[in-house]
Amino acid sequence: MSEEKSFHMTSDEFRRYGHAAVDWIADYHSRIESFPVLSQVKPGEIRAALPKNPPAQGEPFEWLLKDVERLILPGVTHWQSPNFFAYFPCNASGPGILGDLVSSGLGVQGMLWSTSPACTELETHVMDWLVGMLGLPEKFLSSKSGGGVIQDTASSAALCALLAARERATNYSSNKKGCNGRLVAYASTQTHSSLEKAAMIAGIGTENLRLIDVDDNFAMRPDALARQIEADQRAGLTPCFVCATVGTTSSNAMDPIAAIGEVCQRHNLWLHVDAAMSGTAMLCPEFRHLQNGVELADSYNFNPHKWMFTNFDCNCFWVADRKALIQTLSILPEYLRNQATESGAVIDYRDWHIQLGRRFRSLKLWFVIRHYGVEGLRHHVREHVRLAQEFAEWVREDDRFELAALAPLNLVCFRHKGGDAANQDAVNQSIMDRLNRSGDLFLTHTKLKGKLTLRLCVGQTNTQARHVERAWKRIREEAEKAAAAA
Ligand SMILES: Cc1ncc(COP(=O)(O)O)c(C=O)c1O
Repeated sequence: MSEEKSFHMTSDEFRRYGHAAVDWIADYHSRIESFPVLSQVKPGEIRAALPKNPPAQGEPFEWLLKDVERLILPGVTHWQSPNFFAYFPCNASGPGILGDLVSSGLGVQGMLWSTSPACTELETHVMDWLVGMLGLPEKFLSSKSGGGVIQDTASSAALCALLAARERATNYSSNKKGCNGRLVAYASTQTHSSLEKAAMIAGIGTENLRLIDVDDNFAMRPDALARQIEADQRAGLTPCFVCATVGTTSSNAMDPIAAIGEVCQRHNLWLHVDAAMSGTAMLCPEFRHLQNGVELADSYNFNPHKWMFTNFDCNCFWVADRKALIQTLSILPEYLRNQATESGAVIDYRDWHIQLGRRFRSLKLWFVIRHYGVEGLRHHVREHVRLAQEFAEWVREDDRFELAALAPLNLVCFRHKGGDAANQDAVNQSIMDRLNRSGDLFLTHTKLKGKLTLRLCVGQTNTQARHVERAWKRIREEAEKAAAAA
């Protein structure tokens, strides 16, 4: 009797190859420091090494892992390396990875409560936990008027906040009639570019997104905000939304939330607080003063996928008034109707974001929080901040370098003074290029007050004192060479 070939991986094979894949990941993490942090391949190099056509017949699983090693690893920038100091981190951890694996294993699509009640209820529960863990206002709790939802990214959270603000300001008519070109939103010159994108997508238009001036420390000026809102009102426009940032991307500047919130209250504007990376610091009570006034926010978000050991993607987004968000994003076609939804007793998270389908992301967050406990998470945040502050002190003490911004947490912005002003940028660019080409560490730059500035962010899961010490040593070595060549 001929047995029909199924093509599927059998359960035994899955078990065997699954162990092999986990072993491979564990080995990768244990030898991660041996790779150049920034991938050194040239454009097109990875594709050129891949077969032109897909395989007609299935291949043995062993070949796949071998090809990850041979073809893929050279093209990987090692975000999980402890020598990764670039951008903001995107850190991961054992419990986060395993939580994601379990989520893949369950293969749940949680668009409605009824399509997997645990997917919704665990998410609501973990988001309520985090309100307490981060010292956020109680109005964000699902048991009060608000609630939290996991989004893919801070960009999506900002878009949802802006959409809800738009609808609230127009009595929910823009959804029906479209925008009239008179709505105005506000951010600062330092706000993340995702707000500009949100203004494009939400139909506000980038010309109606006002970028408010910042002070000497790159924080939004509430007086300038108030003046602009009043000018727009006098011009017959409809101000509706302000985004304030706790820890800007360029320099980790802290917008004064209390003063901005007061302006928003006075003019009835929606205040969205973007704490994409620095929100994680709020696990530690001693850093919460950086977001004083957060109780005035209509929405708030941070990315556990940046600094809270929860692998990408995972953004936590809260609103103070869930009705406003749901009324903005809810549509109920016949094919999604079900008893639980009709009963009004459940949350259907499809009404809380752009897309319909959703992954079981709360599992990895739950695994992370349970594995580390609040104590473990605080320990690592404090350690990263301590290491960054130590680095800032070394920069301060070296008269060849200067700090370019306040360093309130784990990001240090600095530059080499590099001879005359004309070649300072070139020297700093050269220092960065040399370091990144060496593969020993990876850091990135920004421009502050028109000058090229190096950024070193301590936030990778396994970064320890020895990595930051070596980074400083390597920076000084390359700085000497770059300055000599200038
Ligand atoms: C302050 C801030 N907001 C938003 C974002 C966008 O993050 P995401 O990739 O989650 O959209 C970033 C990214 O670095 C950020 O620093």
